[in-house]
Amino acid sequence: MSRYEEILSILSNRPFRWVVTGAAGFIGSHLVETLLGLKQQVIGLDCFLSGTRSNLDEAVSLCGNGKPDLRFVKGDIRDMEACREVCEGADFVLHQAALVSVPRSFDEPHLNNSCNITGFLNMLLAARDANVRSFVFASSAAVYGAQPQGPICENTPLAPMSPYAVAKRTGELYSRVLSCGMRSTGLRYMNAYGPRQDPSSPYSGVISIWTKQTMEGKTPAIFGDGNNTRDFVYVDDIVQANILAAMQDTNDGCNGNVFNVGTGKPTSLEELLSSIQRAVHEYFPDIPQTANPRYMPERTGDIRHSQADITLARKTLGYEPRLSLAEGLERMIGGGSKAGKETSKN
Ligand SMILES: NC(=O)c1ccc[n+]([C@@H]2O[C@H](COP(=O)([O-])OP(=O)(O)OC[C@H]3O[C@@H](n4cnc5c(N)ncnc54)[C@H](O)[C@@H]3O)[C@@H](O)[C@H]2O)c1
Repeated sequence: MSRYEEILSILSNRPFRWVVTGAAGFIGSHLVETLLGLKQQVIGLDCFLSGTRSNLDEAVSLCGNGKPDLRFVKGDIRDMEACREVCEGADFVLHQAALVSVPRSFDEPHLNNSCNITGFLNMLLAARDANVRSFVFASSAAVYGAQPQGPICENTPLAPMSPYAVAKRTGELYSRVLSCGMRSTGLRYMNAYGPRQDPSSPYSGVISIWTKQTMEGKTPAIFGDGNNTRDFVYVDDIVQANILAAMQDTNDGCNGNVFNVGTGKPTSLEELLSSIQRAVHEYFPDIPQTANPRYMPERTGDIRHSQADITLARKTLGYEPRLSLAEGLERMIGGGSKAGKETSKN
């Protein structure tokens, strides 16, 4: 039995109270779905900056639990009182709420600062003051900035290249100096993908945008020459890392730990597009094949290569990515929810 399976089994027999911020977003709604499926008590906080009520509704309907214990608070992490309200009595906090887009952090740096630095600080302090067992927060691979090709480990010197990355790094530093006894863990997500990732915004992840375009018979555009690489990680593995980090049984007094969360495998944008087209045409043979991609100039703040070294998360958390890119695309495009699967294994 893997460490994750062990923990899922513990959770399915014992309810804890979890706060998920950004609960109406892509990753947050998957955390909600999995936790509700494990019969946990969940308090979601979101102000719908980019998330939607339909994400939450879908999470509830797919969770596989007829009596989901979810309290949703429409509120803003920039409001300290809202943060305190949701943290009261909580065991674990999974802080995901953020302005997530790199280009938008250039366009609206004050919004980035207020959500991703002040809002982060509010949640950290509210969780600490409420004596929660563990505070886990979404950091990002963006903190590494441009690095030479090859796997990046957590002690690589950082080079944030955008207001978004500066904010994510600031959160990591705050967690190191302000947790004061509360276990806090930052997860540097690589490129997450999966159902409910919003394809309708120019700020969305490339997989959701390209999948939507391919399904509509349109030709996607590649920014750059197509050789840029990314480490694409399926959302279930992001959920796994959050639950493992929250439930770590060590408290070594070393707060502010950070872990890479990816697959450790690089994929070029060109390979990605072919994989998406293959998966779409396998499941929807009637959709017309699209022409070769259009190539556009690289965007400000885009990095050339990104690939996680996940040794530390493997060793310390017991994290093991469970889905390859092909499997993840198949699940996302071919349909089929993960609902109930985790719990039914135990
Ligand atoms: N998706 C990725 O590939 C990726 C990669 C690295 C890091 N991350 C981080 O993971 C977290 C979740 O990202 P996501 O992809 O699910 O994005 P998302 O936009 O789907 O979710 C973010 C959620 O936060 C909410 N939110 C934003 N500002 C808020 C505020 N001030 N108060 C309350 N709620 C607020 C939004 O409404 C949204 O529901 C973010 O912290 C993001 O920076 C994501």
